[in-house]
Amino acid sequence: MTQTTLLVTGGAGFIGANFVHYWLEKYPTDRVVVLDALTYAGNRTSLSSAEDNPNFRFVHGNILDIDLVDDLLRGEQINTIVHFAAESHVDRSITGPDAFIDTNVVGTHALLKAAKSVWLNGRSTLPHRFHHVSTDEVYGSLGPDDPAFAEDTPYAPNSPYSASKAASDHLVRAYHHTYGLQVTTSNCSNNYGPYQFPEKLIPLVVLNILHGKSLPIYGDGKNIRDWLYVEDHCRGIDLVMKKGTVGEVYNIGGNNEWTNLDIVTLICRLLDEAFAKDQILSQRFPSSPSSAGQKASSLITFVKDRPGHDRRYAIDATKCRAKLGYVPQESFETGIRKTITWMLNNEAWWRAVMDGSYREWLDKQYGG
Ligand code: NAD
Ligand code: TYD
Repeated sequence: MTQTTLLVTGGAGFIGANFVHYWLEKYPTDRVVVLDALTYAGNRTSLSSAEDNPNFRFVHGNILDIDLVDDLLRGEQINTIVHFAAESHVDRSITGPDAFIDTNVVGTHALLKAAKSVWLNGRSTLPHRFHHVSTDEVYGSLGPDDPAFAEDTPYAPNSPYSASKAASDHLVRAYHHTYGLQVTTSNCSNNYGPYQFPEKLIPLVVLNILHGKSLPIYGDGKNIRDWLYVEDHCRGIDLVMKKGTVGEVYNIGGNNEWTNLDIVTLICRLLDEAFAKDQILSQRFPSSPSSAGQKASSLITFVKDRPGHDRRYAIDATKCRAKLGYVPQESFETGIRKTITWMLNNEAWWRAVMDGSYREWLDKQYGG
């Protein structure tokens, strides 16, 4: 049997890195090649525990470099692409949409072209799979009583980020329909867990509590997101790749809707409890209100709303459950505790991130 060799684009980012660790542990004989441009969101240290594995290779490069992708597909005899690489932060897409079009649209198209050229070479079709990782944000925004997003919900993206992801989804679909490329797509809800860049809500709130900085809540804090622990997303992608039908789309989610305010309040409470139990935390993070026995929630600050802020996302994961037997393993209670514990135990990781772009970004947002 030939070895499965995966090209994981964006493998130094949040979900990509979790996916690499998940895959190497579950399928130790598979080879995993990561292609990542190491933008502000990519961190090689997120992959450090994989670096000694002979079945792992890191390639620093851009998905827009079609010659590089072509060489990798041929040289490494790659038969599976798992495409995570993207610009992923909605706020950045509002202030600078161009990078989103370049990477998410043109970059995805470059990958599709390379895959078509190598795998469908006109004479023979090599066994292959192109799995595209996408988001529930392509479906737009829900009202309070609307049914959750299903695979046949019409696309209605509202931000430059979601519009660029929607465009990439359509290109992936078209390469299947027109050329016969063997694709699958998964659209997932908001993820949280280890290695998430601290510009996203959950890690931002944890770090700001530790540093005694304000916790910015956009608008009235009643916007709703449907949260999934990142390893459960990886498990879902695995199932789609192994058991899903080529050409189809699968929505992955955990049926776990929370308002932003409730989630921030929960994190505040969990950190207050952690500080009360472990005196060392007060020595490590003396600027945190929790270290002085005050409530972390005193840092909550309502700020100007995000322009075009989607009100509610919710995933209907019935198809994944019924067709693939998908069931998330973490409850929100266990997942959020694991995430906070990971952040408290991995200060070196987020310090390294903070010393660079996070620090600059944070200072710009909140005046240092
Ligand atoms: P991330 O921003 O943490 O990581 C993105 C990675 O892609 C980084 O390592 C970055 O260096 C790399 N990258 C960016 N541009 C590149 C380019 N041109 N060439 C090569 N590498 C490049 O993102 P994430 O949160 O891990 O999201 C991964 C994927 O999952 C994205 O496609 C995103 O749309 C999708 N998704 C994310 C979520 C979520 O909650 N984070 C939910 C659903 C779907
Ligand atoms: P985010 O983590 O940026 O993910 P997305 O916008 O892709 O859903 O934001 C999650 C929610 O939290 C979203 O409704 C915006 C809100 N939010 C805040 O209220 N304050 C913040 O500082 C951030 C980053 C997000």
